Parts: sequence; structure tokens; C-alpha cells
Amino acid sequence: MSNALKEYLSFCQNRVERALEARLPSENILPKKLHEAMRYCALDGGKRMRPMLAYCTGKTLGIAPEALDGPACAVEFIHVYSLIHDDLPAMDDDELRRGKPTCHVAFDEATAILAGDALQALAFEILAHDPTMTVDAESRLKMITMLAKASGSQGMVGGQAIDLESVGTKLNLPELENMHIHKTGALIRASVNMATLAKPDIDHNVAAKLDHYAKCIGLSFQVKDDILDEESDTATLGKTQGKDRDNDKPTYPALLGLSGAKQKAQELHEQAIDSLSIFGKEADLLRDLSLYIIQRDH
Ligand code: IPE
Ligand code: IPE
Ligand code: MG
Ligand code: MG
Ligand code: MG
Repeated sequence: MSNALKEYLSFCQNRVERALEARLPSENILPKKLHEAMRYCALDGGKRMRPMLAYCTGKTLGIAPEALDGPACAVEFIHVYSLIHDDLPAMDDDELRRGKPTCHVAFDEATAILAGDALQALAFEILAHDPTMTVDAESRLKMITMLAKASGSQGMVGGQAIDLESVGTKLNLPELENMHIHKTGALIRASVNMATLAKPDIDHNVAAKLDHYAKCIGLSFQVKDDILDEESDTATLGKTQGKDRDNDKPTYPALLGLSGAKQKAQELHEQAIDSLSIFGKEADLLRDLSLYIIQRDH
């Protein structure tokens, strides 16, 4: 990872940790167990890639981080909710997440379902109301619509549905790509696009290039996630390695082999870099981030 990216990632991680903390209900407020579970899952863990993408897009466009805390928290809360539900016995049945017992193991299944539900609602409350957001009502509405679409049946949830109904079947490459674009790509794309919406006068072509960048890294992110599940280890990942194979999930390594999957991730990274060619140095963090996504070890 470049030094510039390392520095900015650490700045963003600290920033978003404080911003998430400030927006989560205290564990002293009823219902205490629910609030405890929400905080347990959302705080102190994860790479915070989606907030990072929002802040780095902001840096490229000259938008201050203060103006992006709301969207960054909203997308991270949706992501955390998706992880809590993804780990449930009815879905991937995982017991380890971000180096800790999963929500339904640390609490119980009903609490895990409800914590996910409440985090999802909180995300939209933030976009609708957060006082730190400086955009006008029209842009807020566009952000709400964008995150809702990216989360719902034609976004992340739709991808999760395809994932579950594909267990034990053999998807072809376009089908696998479609699943990944939805289950993981949609929220990553929304992270970038919500930041571009924070600049209402943005040039259409600039927004389109950033959207294309986001589409490429959204897919490369899940290709790399599949690769790590195959070749990393549980301690490094903070989640149980080898679960995709155990659960007979269709993945890039399963279809293309490890070297084919790595080749695909590299191609997507190159396409992401190409889509940033209209930018100068101001997009260097986004370039570094694309490389980090395919080189990361967890
Ligand atoms: C894991 O996401 C689930 C996918 C969508 C691939 P991350 O790898 O971003 O998980 P955290 O947030 O760092 O825990
Ligand atoms: C998860 O994909 C995608 C979402 C949570 C939306 P995975 O099931 O591959 O994620 P991990 O590997 O459990 O983090
Ligand atoms: Mg899953
Ligand atoms: Mg999973
Ligand atoms: Mg995975």
C-alpha cells in the first residue's frame, strides 16, 4: 500500500469510527440488548472500504470530509447489516466476523435479524436528517434513492438471493459476474456515487467516469474476496477461511481457477485505472485504492 493511501486510510478509519459511534444509540437506551448488538457489530472492526471510497471520491472532487460523514456512515451501516444477515444460519452460517463471534453467536438469531433491520433503518434516517450534511433536500433525496436501489432487490439483497439460489449449481461467467455486481458491487458503486451527489454541479462526464471506476472495483472487490476465501487463513481474514468451498458457492476461483481469478482481478484494476484517465493527481488515492483492493491480504 502506498504511504499516501496508508495515511489517508488511517485518517478515514478514525474519522468514520467517531462518526459511527456518534450516530449509534447508546447501550443504555432501551432495548439495551438490541443497541448493544448494533454497536458490537458496527464499531471497532472492518476495513471501512466503503466510507474510504466516499472520502477518496470527495478528495478527488474537492469535497470536504465533513460533508461526507453522513453518506459514509449510511453506507457502512447498510454494509454491516448485510454482513450480520449474511452470517446467519439461514444464509452462510458463519461464526466468525471481523475477528469476533458473529452477531447471532454473540447474541442470538432474533437479535441479529433485528440489529440488521435497525442498522438499515438508521442508514436512511441519516441520509434524510443528518445535520452535518450540507447538501440541499433534492440531493439528499437522490442519495436516499441511490442507496435504497443499491441495497434492495435489484442491488445487494438481489445479489444475495442469487447467491443463495446458486449454491451447488454451476454458474457461467456472465451469471457469476451478475451475482457479484449485485451482492457486493452495488454498495461499492453507491459509496462513490453518493459522494458525487454531494457535488450537485458536477460535470456529467466526470460523474460517469467515477461511476465506471466504481463498477470495476466493485467487481474486483468480490473477486478478491473469493480468492482470499480460497488461499488466505482464518486469523488474517478474521472470518473462517474456506467457507465458499464448504458451502459449494459459485466463485471466481471455482470457475476460473486461482490464476484465472487473479487475472480477472488484474484486468478489472486496469479498467478502473483507465476510467480515471481524465483526472490528474487528485485521483491518485482512488488509483491506489483500486490496487489495494486486489492486493490486500484480508
Ligand atoms: C466483506 O466485505 C463482504 C463482501 C461484500 C465481500 P469487507 O471485506 O469490506 O468486510 P469488512 O467491512 O472489512 O469487514
Ligand atoms: C457477502 O459475500 C456479500 C454481502 C454481505 C452482501 P460473502 O458471503 O462472500 O462475504 P463474506 O466472505 O462472508 O464476508
Ligand atoms: Mg454470502
Ligand atoms: Mg458470507
Ligand atoms: Mg466471501
